[in-house]
Amino acid sequence: MGTSRLPGFYKMRIAERLRRVAEQLEVDGDELDGLGESGTLPLANADAMIENAVGVLGLPVGVGLNFVVNGEDLLIPMAVEEPSVIAAVGLAAKIARDGGGFQAEADPPRMIGQVQVSSLADPPAAKAALLREKRQILEAANALQPAMKARGGGAQDLEVRLVPVRDAENGAAEVHAIVHLLVDTQDAMGANLINTMCEGVSPLVERISGGRVRLRILSNLADQRLARATCRIPFDALADFGFSGAEVAHGIAEASRFADADPYRACTHNKGVMNGVDAVALATGNDWRAIEAGAHAWAARNGRYEPLTRWWVEDGHLLGKAELPIQVGTVGGAVKANPLVPVLLRLMGNPGAQKLAAIMAAVGLAQNMAALRALGSVGIQKGHMALHARSVAVSAGAKGSAVEEVARALIAAGEIKLHRAQEILAKLVAQKPAAEVT
Ligand code: MEV
Repeated sequence: MGTSRLPGFYKMRIAERLRRVAEQLEVDGDELDGLGESGTLPLANADAMIENAVGVLGLPVGVGLNFVVNGEDLLIPMAVEEPSVIAAVGLAAKIARDGGGFQAEADPPRMIGQVQVSSLADPPAAKAALLREKRQILEAANALQPAMKARGGGAQDLEVRLVPVRDAENGAAEVHAIVHLLVDTQDAMGANLINTMCEGVSPLVERISGGRVRLRILSNLADQRLARATCRIPFDALADFGFSGAEVAHGIAEASRFADADPYRACTHNKGVMNGVDAVALATGNDWRAIEAGAHAWAARNGRYEPLTRWWVEDGHLLGKAELPIQVGTVGGAVKANPLVPVLLRLMGNPGAQKLAAIMAAVGLAQNMAALRALGSVGIQKGHMALHARSVAVSAGAKGSAVEEVARALIAAGEIKLHRAQEILAKLVAQKPAAEVT
């Protein structure tokens, strides 16, 4: 892969962009087949994936440019409906390049499976017995997934927590033993294999504990599977909108402290982080609800809701760091079911799950920086409205160069509404051959 800096990419026609990407990745154009016009989930696959399928919903897929992660240039596939997300992340990644881009890493892909045991005569004794028989339980779990074990993954450890669960009848608490199976899921997200293990070991857990097994399911609070990213950006790279680099850096750091202080702000701050993380999750066929649930539970781990990223100023530089659980896979059913996903993973250089998680942390950090940079200076609406205007122009039926023309006229009119776009387009149609504009 050459550079991820592709100046003028946004101005190209889609076919030209695809040629440029193929060139950049040094692959034949047909390796990117599935992108472009034909790129959607076949109805037959949709039918096999879910019950009662009646169609397929499209989303734009774009490329986040300018990323350098751990010294490697990367093109980032992102699926998202919000107009400003990809433009903003590319700009933030371009700014971060001046400081060497992002450093990112992720923990080994270790997920937690929970087996809940109730009706215990002596919960501490049950806990001790379960821990004593740890090896036997892990062996039983791994016997259910021998291929995973053979690949170096599988159930590796076991913990037992005693958790008081309130009784609905009288409000008193009964202490349950919650067995955690710690499972290395390799390049899989791991939900299915963990659930199979949790269900499979239940009879044994009941025998050992003397209790009654209730829920058997993974935990999406994947706090053994954290991903982290950092960046260090010289002030000079941040100057914009008539603000000095130092002013922009201090604005971002102050916005970060605001998120630290106020959960109402932290929530929106984190939404900005997840704009990037989720867009990559979608493009790579991953379960974004799991990632969302995990991220927000992690954000609240200290008893109050906190930001997933932090920014501060040091020695003429803006420093940023992100840390959050990212539970993703690059193999497995959902990844394979959509023929576009392997192509998009190819675009990113076919990362394994651990590397993908690290890249996603960097994307989240960049996305957050883009939002705070604008919010701490001129506000986001100017850039946002320009992109929104293009989308309204397209909804009105504009095509080709007419999209920009209609969008510009909408912004000049200060009213970005569909009826206004239709009026402007009607005027253009009167001036030019209809085939050129609609
Ligand atoms: C909009 O999708 C995301 C932002 O609200 C994030 C933020 O406020 O930090 C701009």
